[in-house]
Amino acid sequence: MPGTKNLTIRSEEVIARCRTLAAFTETPGRTLRTFLSRPMRDCHREITRWLNTLGAEVTLDAAGNLRGFYSGEQPSAPRLLIGSHLDTVPNAGAYDGVLGVVLAVAILEALEGRRLPFGIEVVGFSEEEGVRFRTPFIGSRALVGRLDEELLNCSDSKGVSVRAAIENFGLNLRDLPWAQLRADTIAYLEFHIEQGPVLESLGRSLGAVEAIVGQTRIDLCFLGRANHAGTTPMRLRHDALAAAAEWTIAVERTAQNEPNLVATVGQIDAKPGAANVIPGEARVSLDVRHKSDGARRRATETLVHQAEEIAERRGLSLQSSVLLNQNAVAMDPFLVNEIEKAIRKTGCEPHRMVSGAGHDAMILAERVPAAMAFLRSPGGISHDPAESVLLGDVEKALECGLHLLDELAGSAEFQKRMCRA
Ligand code: HGY
Ligand code: MN
Ligand code: MN
Repeated sequence: MPGTKNLTIRSEEVIARCRTLAAFTETPGRTLRTFLSRPMRDCHREITRWLNTLGAEVTLDAAGNLRGFYSGEQPSAPRLLIGSHLDTVPNAGAYDGVLGVVLAVAILEALEGRRLPFGIEVVGFSEEEGVRFRTPFIGSRALVGRLDEELLNCSDSKGVSVRAAIENFGLNLRDLPWAQLRADTIAYLEFHIEQGPVLESLGRSLGAVEAIVGQTRIDLCFLGRANHAGTTPMRLRHDALAAAAEWTIAVERTAQNEPNLVATVGQIDAKPGAANVIPGEARVSLDVRHKSDGARRRATETLVHQAEEIAERRGLSLQSSVLLNQNAVAMDPFLVNEIEKAIRKTGCEPHRMVSGAGHDAMILAERVPAAMAFLRSPGGISHDPAESVLLGDVEKALECGLHLLDELAGSAEFQKRMCRA
């Protein structure tokens, strides 16, 4: 277990660092950091400083992912990836994503120069939330070779494409192939806040994630007819916002009646957006999740059909485009067991659970065995400034990470995987 500097001090430093990074924002006073935004550069600078102190080799790949490699006993040893995302939702808390990167650095610091039979690459993904381009996982998709032309051509609300954002940040698209996972990557681990109420309701510090639910994200647009709010009788209206509102209630009612289904209309944009004009256009987002892909697909079909039915009845038309259709992903059973064992070694009882939130681990799992450890979310709050962590839980997570590395270093199964890498 760690040497001189004790875990409590390291854990206080983890929390302080997360709060430092939270101050790097596009909107002063409220945390917002999107794909390759200016504050992301401040994040990179700060984390690079910590990694350089460790003697890790730091690079920024062509998708804007920060990569810090801490070599193993042998410089040629295969590598284990540990990380999470550095971007945030609007008015975010200080821990979603960032905690996983800061904890990874703290675990390396707690090794105090010790080298393992494998190298460790800390990765800070450039974009997981899907805020700027309405499509998530841009950073991790680059590591699995799926940052494709279609995604590169996606544009943000200002008409800037992913491709242009990469170039504007000073990165070179021609280097994208080198962002992909190296062949000697053995596994991916991610520490993340649970972002829900389960661990707190059980009085548990840490959870072992066995699967991540699938999610569908769709962009819909109700197209009616803008008109004068004062002169147009109610019976002659084709009000796009009223249609979107009726559908939003239908979405909520459908999800309330389907066990384990969650469906959310999180964004709505009515045009032209004047108080005295009947909205002719209402653009809405749909986020549908379920641990069963079949149930998620059926629910999505039902919800889109409801939108079509409401539009037709109100004399409107409907446009929709699927932005994401991500299947549920099981985590690697061996790694989940190792995480549970490591949690037990901290004196905590692990809770095996399914993640309702999406994570980069579900993308990395396309190429390498992946697993996650959750920290309790006090109040079950996330995606909000009230998001928090408990010092004791951070300490347990740090200790769990160190136990996990020791377990993997001594594991015959992991050694077999290292040989195959
Ligand atoms: O939306 C999510 O599930 C995650 O916070 N990106
Ligand atoms: Mn999030
Ligand atoms: Mn997250």
